[in-house]
Amino acid sequence: MTICKDTAHAGMLIKQGELVAFPTETVYGLGADAFNPKAVSEIFAMKERPAFDPLIVHISELKQLDVLCKQVDDTILRLANKFWPGPLTLVVDKNNRVPDMVTSGLSTVGIRMPAHPVALELITAANTPIAAPSANKFGMVSPTEPWHVTKQLPKVGCVLDGGKSMVGIESTVIRLTGNGFAILRPGAITLSRLKKELPQIAFHDSNENKLSPGLLKSHYSPSKPMFLSSEFDHSKDVSNAGLISFGIPKYKNKFKHIEVLSKNENLQDAAVNLFGCIHNMEISEVDFIVIEPVPEKGIGVAIMDRLKKAVYKHRILEDKNEG
Ligand code: TXA
Ligand code: MG
Repeated sequence: MTICKDTAHAGMLIKQGELVAFPTETVYGLGADAFNPKAVSEIFAMKERPAFDPLIVHISELKQLDVLCKQVDDTILRLANKFWPGPLTLVVDKNNRVPDMVTSGLSTVGIRMPAHPVALELITAANTPIAAPSANKFGMVSPTEPWHVTKQLPKVGCVLDGGKSMVGIESTVIRLTGNGFAILRPGAITLSRLKKELPQIAFHDSNENKLSPGLLKSHYSPSKPMFLSSEFDHSKDVSNAGLISFGIPKYKNKFKHIEVLSKNENLQDAAVNLFGCIHNMEISEVDFIVIEPVPEKGIGVAIMDRLKKAVYKHRILEDKNEG
């Protein structure tokens, strides 16, 4: 594994069918040439990602929409002009040329233009749209710094270093096809900002998983048990536990290790720091993690979406053990 700075070289690797991990403003991605099904299949293998979970295709110029979309309509262009480059993924009807390997056989494709100079340079250097999921093992914590990538995916040949991701949580995914527009995954672009452009948009019914096969109940799981402090039995011994606090930590002396999402309870900062705090806990000596919830407003909706999924597995295990 090499941390590399040379985007021209990394672009050549993509063109040759290799995988490259690269920074975006949301999280680091694990990229391959979207038009090379064999290279794309390597992404699924390396991440141990099930084939039913489609990838997002990253572009650097609007004209690349022509080879990805069935039809580039006014809504697509309006949203692209408003929010790109930026953390919004548009799910639209796909062009027949997009390999099924990228879209898991769906008739739609997710597309976004990332707001990170290194990502844009890489896509330009590769001269092809780049299919990329987050650069973590399937179901585990997303990476916002190069070492988070190498910790989980030591076999990636090249990790482009673009520093710490400035947004910190994955893009908002919205569906523009079918009956009405829907938010499939909350992210940094909030419901209220989207409503200004698409007044009829709403969160999709989470029981209707067919819409976005990747949106499972359990995801972003740390390698150690993690509990929301609001659901945690505070009479338990926490001397070997870690606390991730939102705001100045209250029970500082009781815990072995403390991480802070945002000292002054700023939700944007909490999003930026969220995955990094969890990665730090994974490599610290604690046995389990207690994390404080954040208010579910603005980007807090996306943060809590990630947290509920991150604690889900251990909550289910606890329930089984106790019942
Ligand atoms: O910010 C991000 O979106 C990052 C960076 C690297 O761009 N990428 C990312 O990719 O989070 P991934 O694969 O971890 O999550 C993509 C989500 C999945 O839940 C997937 O199911 C959904 O987008 N998705 C992709 N294509 C779709 C499609 N055609 N229809 C419905 N959902 C789709
Ligand atoms: Mg992911």
